[in-house]
Amino acid sequence: MCGIFAVVNDKTNNAAQTVLTGLKKLEYRGYDSWGIAIKPGRSTEAVDRLQVEKHIGKIGEAKTNLPKGKIAIGHTRWATHGGVTDENAHPHLDCHQQIAVIHNGIVENYLEFKEELIKKTHKFSSETDTEVIAHLIEEKMRPSVIPSEERSDESRNLEKAVFETFNSLVGSNAIGVIDFESETIIACRNGSPLVVGVDEKNHQFFLGSDVPAFLKHTNRVHFLDDGEAVVITKQGVKLFNVKSGQEKKLILQQLDWQLEDAEKGGFPHFLLKEIMEQKETIAKIASINEKEILEIANLIRQGFRTVLIGCGTASYCALAGKYFFANTGFESQTYGAYEFLPFSQFANNKTLIIAISQSGETADTLIAVRAAKKQGAKIVAVVNSRGSTLERLADIVLSVGAGPEIAVVSTKAFTAQLVTLYLLAEATSNKYEPGKKKIKELSKALHNWLNKQLTNRLIDLAKELIDQEHIYLIGKHLNYPATLEFALKLKESSYIHAEPFAAGELKHGVITLIQKGTPCFVLASNDEVKGEILSSAAELKARGGRIIGIAPFNSYEFNEVIQTPDLGELTIFANIIVGQLLGYYLGVGRGADPDKPRNLAKSVTVK
Ligand code: AGP
Ligand code: GLU
Repeated sequence: MCGIFAVVNDKTNNAAQTVLTGLKKLEYRGYDSWGIAIKPGRSTEAVDRLQVEKHIGKIGEAKTNLPKGKIAIGHTRWATHGGVTDENAHPHLDCHQQIAVIHNGIVENYLEFKEELIKKTHKFSSETDTEVIAHLIEEKMRPSVIPSEERSDESRNLEKAVFETFNSLVGSNAIGVIDFESETIIACRNGSPLVVGVDEKNHQFFLGSDVPAFLKHTNRVHFLDDGEAVVITKQGVKLFNVKSGQEKKLILQQLDWQLEDAEKGGFPHFLLKEIMEQKETIAKIASINEKEILEIANLIRQGFRTVLIGCGTASYCALAGKYFFANTGFESQTYGAYEFLPFSQFANNKTLIIAISQSGETADTLIAVRAAKKQGAKIVAVVNSRGSTLERLADIVLSVGAGPEIAVVSTKAFTAQLVTLYLLAEATSNKYEPGKKKIKELSKALHNWLNKQLTNRLIDLAKELIDQEHIYLIGKHLNYPATLEFALKLKESSYIHAEPFAAGELKHGVITLIQKGTPCFVLASNDEVKGEILSSAAELKARGGRIIGIAPFNSYEFNEVIQTPDLGELTIFANIIVGQLLGYYLGVGRGADPDKPRNLAKSVTVK
């Protein structure tokens, strides 16, 4: 849930500043506090220990007072254990400021360690689970616990101590460790993402939770697998198996990501940039994954039971996918991945799990996938980030290629995943090519419709709704998952209580909530349930609701309408984009940070 960043051999000799700049790119992963540890360069005073700076709050325009140096680590935190305080921010130190640790995850057995370490006179200065890691390494580095024959090479001792410590941690974790003496950074991964970047030209080495942190310097990377560790020194990067301690061959891959992908490109926020990018990303997906899509469609036709899972936005994508499959004559099931476990027992070798995830690192989704895999199910990953755990667990990967999604609120990754599911559903009924054509038409229509006139209209609507406490939304059939996603965008971006309902649910209780002037969004398409959804709109209107239609048509039942392009079942894409934009403008108007909404983290790597 946090951001990890480190540099070795910083060419500017200002590693703290380089780390700070990198952390800003990772702030979307966690942003309650941040910190940096550096080994000061020789020219600086106080060169006998690591120097640390830690603060609560967002990095924003922060500056660092740390001395110059070439090697540093940094962290942006999403607290799990211990309040949001300067002391609890990472990095955490051993008793002698020789070792500093940054950590992503939860050390489930930290209390046992802490008790033992306190008995051995270690002094703790935070309430976090993380701090035990620094003291455990220190303890293992003590001459008395390291046999003399192994003590000759300082960095080997460090490796051994770090690997042993890491192997003793229970839970999903990634750590980064800096050692003063040997000027080494060691990172280990088990369940939380880590990627190493090599800038061969300048002989600089980077470590990050995600590529955008160092994309400015290099796109040559290795995504660490679970159970892997890297040891980074001035000489270079070495890869290890953390359990056996054996060195492995490091193979770098070159990513085709451009620097602009991870920059705002003139937009005030990543969220707005990413919403607008959908004009391109949607068309792009229509020309990838063909082989894999046809292979999966074949399995579904052969009678595999299809189960779609995901969390949050990805779960709404799964639900929309279920309607797409129904429209092509195939039954499927959906679960929020966090509710899947009681049902995993029904998975077998004729089950196809379609796991949807932007990050591919969401703990709840990974747990569900592992449970189904154990039962023999085939796993399809519909994923946006590269090199993720989900990708590694999957039998077939549908990489949706929307590029880095930096804003915490998911937009372009969601629509890319939804296009992928649509094409898959079309392929099951041998309509892959016509499906592709329809996606191209969708993209063209969005191009024309997503213009200044629309955004101005939504800015005006946002101004009118800005002080609302409650907004209700209804939709039916494909517009039901669209309504769920629309409402989530409003909640995440603006903190307004936006509650979505299936239109059919209204008369079963919900309609009591409607009073004079209550804003009610009605999401609709030109489909077979148009008449029914308009009847529901009429019922809301009769109770005084202010009815805002999101549809490709106007109606007497609407007080006003945001008109979307008429694209048959694909109309939901435009209907949802209205929610993305409206959420953005409401959020900006209400003083929220659209890229980093309160209490959230981009990838939820804890249970
Ligand atoms: C999206 O706007 C949310 N922040 C959140 O619901 C997200 O979709 C969910 O946490 C799943 O993440 P994933 O796609 O990376 O698995
Ligand atoms: N569990 C650690 C803490 O609470 C790490 C949390 C994180 O991943 O940011 O500090």
